[in-house]
Amino acid sequence: MQFDVLIIGAGLAGLSSALKFAPNITVAIVVKRQLSLSSSHWAQGGVAGAINNDDNFDLHEQDTISAGAGLCQLETVRHVVRNSDLCIQWLIDQGVEFTKIDGKNSLHLTREGGHSLNRIAHVADFTGKAIQDNLIQKALQQKNITVFEEHSAVDLIVSTKLNNKDLPERCLGAYILENRTGKVFTISAKKTILATGGASKAYLYTTNPPVSTGDGVAMAWRAGCEIRNMEFIQFHPTCLYHPMERSFLISETVRGEGGILLLPNGEKFMHKYHELADLAPRDIVARAIDSEMKQYGLEHVYLDISMLDKAYIKKRFPSIYSHCLKLDIDMTCEPIPVVPAAHYSCGGVATDLNAMTTLEGLYAVGETACTGLHGANRLASNSLLECLVFSSSAVKHISENLNFKHTPLPEWDESRVSNPDEAVMILQVWNELRRFMWNYVGIVRTNQRLKRAYDRIELLKDEVQHYYNNFHISADLIELRNLLQVSELIVISALQRKESRGLHFSKDYPLKAEKAVDTVIQLNKKS
Ligand code: SIN
Repeated sequence: MQFDVLIIGAGLAGLSSALKFAPNITVAIVVKRQLSLSSSHWAQGGVAGAINNDDNFDLHEQDTISAGAGLCQLETVRHVVRNSDLCIQWLIDQGVEFTKIDGKNSLHLTREGGHSLNRIAHVADFTGKAIQDNLIQKALQQKNITVFEEHSAVDLIVSTKLNNKDLPERCLGAYILENRTGKVFTISAKKTILATGGASKAYLYTTNPPVSTGDGVAMAWRAGCEIRNMEFIQFHPTCLYHPMERSFLISETVRGEGGILLLPNGEKFMHKYHELADLAPRDIVARAIDSEMKQYGLEHVYLDISMLDKAYIKKRFPSIYSHCLKLDIDMTCEPIPVVPAAHYSCGGVATDLNAMTTLEGLYAVGETACTGLHGANRLASNSLLECLVFSSSAVKHISENLNFKHTPLPEWDESRVSNPDEAVMILQVWNELRRFMWNYVGIVRTNQRLKRAYDRIELLKDEVQHYYNNFHISADLIELRNLLQVSELIVISALQRKESRGLHFSKDYPLKAEKAVDTVIQLNKKS
């Protein structure tokens, strides 16, 4: 199959890119489950933007840079922040109905940790769902967009791996697996965009949907792209703690509206860790909770918003309220049990201001990319914004540079593989990996824990690669192979950073180095 543009992933980065192309540009969207399953769809908080009269771009930039702990790229921060109003307006133009101030026409702006004032446009507490449902409907109506649901990208096709010396090094498309039949086919594309989201499924506890397996980063790595800052995994401080529910986020906007973290005896503790107390940046809040839990041997702490008016809580947080109530927790009159959980990958495939990776023809947008916006720690609600800004940048650059002709691509070779005999291996490795990543590569790290994790990853990688080489592949196997790859990249990057900065905290190097330097790795340049 041939398309002008292949987009892998259908969260906000993928969908908004697809919709921004002119109708004469053919676009394929490949999504490994349904269109509605993405981190963007699960996003509760909102879209940050300096649109209030008291606010300005400089303040938003300062907050972003201060959260990023010295590693934000100023040009990128400026590019994103200064386009925030346009992006929010684009969503409004698509029909997204943001929450308004009661009785007025202006947007209700809320607050999250690290922001110096209220600047988050939201749709109650289901902003991502409201945006995605709208864009999905639009994408399904566009004649130039073909959607392949339940299809998994196996690997990118890179010219240097073909026997054609005349082709310069570039990405030519991808091998795609139809999940149901197990058949693999090629999509040839003049340009390919990776928009596969993050890699938080590498951890036992995460706020992410099951699709966050780092596919884009793993594929880009194997294709030889530069990968940056993978050690910076953001742990969200408040994931619901309940035996029946492992991945439900309690939005930071709950603290933004006045919610307070408490120990089981009702004591507050955040004031001991930061002057902004419960509204300190996320890395500080997550580490504080981790430290209190370890000190007192707790399984969780509590988040209390019950001091607010009941009717207001129900109106402001309808999804969180009803979700908790189904589990017999009434947040209008009792605190919610919460724990930190892996939430966001700040690092990823290195990209420039056009969203271009270091491989010609390949772009990365959203959580898959490392644009330089987040540095060592992402400011809350900057991620949906980043998707919107960089989808525009990618679309603009691609549209101006589509003059490449399709090349014949080799078929997927299955001549030497047989049917799998031990599919249980996939579940076993998956569980093992996520558990030791949580224990050894979590909120607080040491050299010894990281080395232990590295050794185990190498063993599991060999096992899975053997399976991949010898048996027919499946969607589960592709995810596991990618998850192992990104876990290795997280650990390698963490071992390279000999300091504590932002989201990376090492007991062996508790201090921040004087100079802030990105961790940059590339295949064959691995140290
Ligand atoms: C939240 O609602 O707490 C998540 C927002 C974000 O991660 O940016």
